[in-house]
Amino acid sequence: MDVASITALIMTLALLWPAIMSQQSAMATRNPTEDYDRRSSAWRQSNWTTHPNVLKEWSSAPLALPATEADDGFNLLFQSNRKELSNFPVTFEQPLPPWLIGNLVRNGLGLFENGPRTFLHAFDGFAKLASWKFFGNSTVLFSTRFIRSDFYKASKEAKTIAPYLLFQAVAPPFGYVEKLQCLVRGLDNMNVNVYAFPNPKTGRAEYAALSDFWILYKIGIENLTTVHRVAPKLKNRQQTTSSWLQGTGFLDLLSSAHPLPEPGTNNSLTFLSSVAVLPWSRNVISLIRVKSLKRRTVVAQWNVGRVPYMHSFSVTATKAILLASPFYVNVMCMAKKAEPFSCLDWHPEEKSTLYIVTLKSGKVTTVHLDNVFSMHHVNAYDVGKQEIIMDLSTYPSPDFVKHLQLHVMRDPLARNSFDAHARLKRFSINLKKLEVREIPIDSNPRPSLATLLDMPVINEAYRSKHYCYVYGLVLKTDNVTLSNIAIVKKDLCSNGTGDRAWQAPGNYPVEPWFVARPDARVEDDGVLLLPVLDGNRRSTYLAILDARTLTLVNRAELPTNIPYSLHGRFFPV
Ligand SMILES: [Fe+2]
Repeated sequence: MDVASITALIMTLALLWPAIMSQQSAMATRNPTEDYDRRSSAWRQSNWTTHPNVLKEWSSAPLALPATEADDGFNLLFQSNRKELSNFPVTFEQPLPPWLIGNLVRNGLGLFENGPRTFLHAFDGFAKLASWKFFGNSTVLFSTRFIRSDFYKASKEAKTIAPYLLFQAVAPPFGYVEKLQCLVRGLDNMNVNVYAFPNPKTGRAEYAALSDFWILYKIGIENLTTVHRVAPKLKNRQQTTSSWLQGTGFLDLLSSAHPLPEPGTNNSLTFLSSVAVLPWSRNVISLIRVKSLKRRTVVAQWNVGRVPYMHSFSVTATKAILLASPFYVNVMCMAKKAEPFSCLDWHPEEKSTLYIVTLKSGKVTTVHLDNVFSMHHVNAYDVGKQEIIMDLSTYPSPDFVKHLQLHVMRDPLARNSFDAHARLKRFSINLKKLEVREIPIDSNPRPSLATLLDMPVINEAYRSKHYCYVYGLVLKTDNVTLSNIAIVKKDLCSNGTGDRAWQAPGNYPVEPWFVARPDARVEDDGVLLLPVLDGNRRSTYLAILDARTLTLVNRAELPTNIPYSLHGRFFPV
């Protein structure tokens, strides 16, 4: 469809808008939710055949390395797609819930090479956004656009991958001078997540694209425009030594791609890891209160011997919890190689550390626990004043991230040869005894399939509170083929009896997002929205799963496929 056709279609929609709205008004008088439920249920029963959706117990099969040609379509997740679209109407196969009104925005990878250079690690693809605008009727507008970062623009102009800091190396590699340029320019490719920061002055949200670094990009979610780069300043950073130079010797480097709301406020929280670059300064971790996109203050800061890599964290009603696994930034290596991920040292013999920050006072409590690695905290909540329950998607080491090389992901034999399973773990933190205890979440010794999830998502209304359900992604569900991927639901309140899974052969889902029904009375009353690559048809569709049953209830083919999408959110209107 050309631009003129799209324009004509949009104008037609605009002209039909009053009619659409009046139809919706009529639907409202007929109780649209019940009407939708009835029609949707009938369609589910008659019209859709996918994999069985309940896999209560997962049993180990011997590892094998089959040469699978059947999952060739999986490679599309790691192949470039330069196509950009703006407000392209997409059609769902069934009526949409009338309460589903807002904008689903996702961030991820769009381009894996430029000119003569290619990225080596999957996490380095040029950032590309995708969005779906839901209006409460059958009209959904799809857009996808690259983030016009300084890195993207410089690379486009130079017709190659410009020298900026990346997760890992490029091929052919940067030269010595280019590596210096990488260190000076820093990481600029915000391809991990999106987040809304309320602005108290305007009363409106400001949207940002994020990665694991301190800078971010302001974006417009209406048309996926890149507004500008933001390098937040901290005005109340404390002096930690008597030297007046303290505060100038930091390299504000790592932060979280997963900010969290501060309970009971309009603020958000994140952290900042600052690497010492001068002899009189020390490495510092800070918990940061985000009052708007640019306005940030320090809740607490503390010195650390080495700076750990952390991707996410937890917040309870009263505390923030940072897990520092012994996976430390090697500053000398960074200065030499300018490759952050190659310059993280894992120490399997060392314990992990929890930094627990009281939000009101800024008091920091340190507790140690057995060696564990996690990319994604799920949720945490207070139990009285002396205990915290914290749920993590864990791994025995960061090795699995090292396997996510592009050449591995594109080769069935290579990608099937490593352990891709996370393990959901629940920890009880005793604040009086300063002890951490793991609480089993499966009644059987063998974990449920759903226990092997990563990319966890919950009903955000239950963030920082007691909750029961976590949704996520399990790779390699047959323990053989990495591309056998399920969307799962873990029931944390009933010994896993409510665990569910949805999987369709040759279909490759990514992280879902939970949208609650507005008048929901139970935690899992809502839908999961997620892009799924249909490897057989080599196209992507947006799937809607019923979050209670984890059955597919609706889907819409997209006009172009979406390479690997990492994280996203639904922003209600
Ligand atoms: Fe993440």
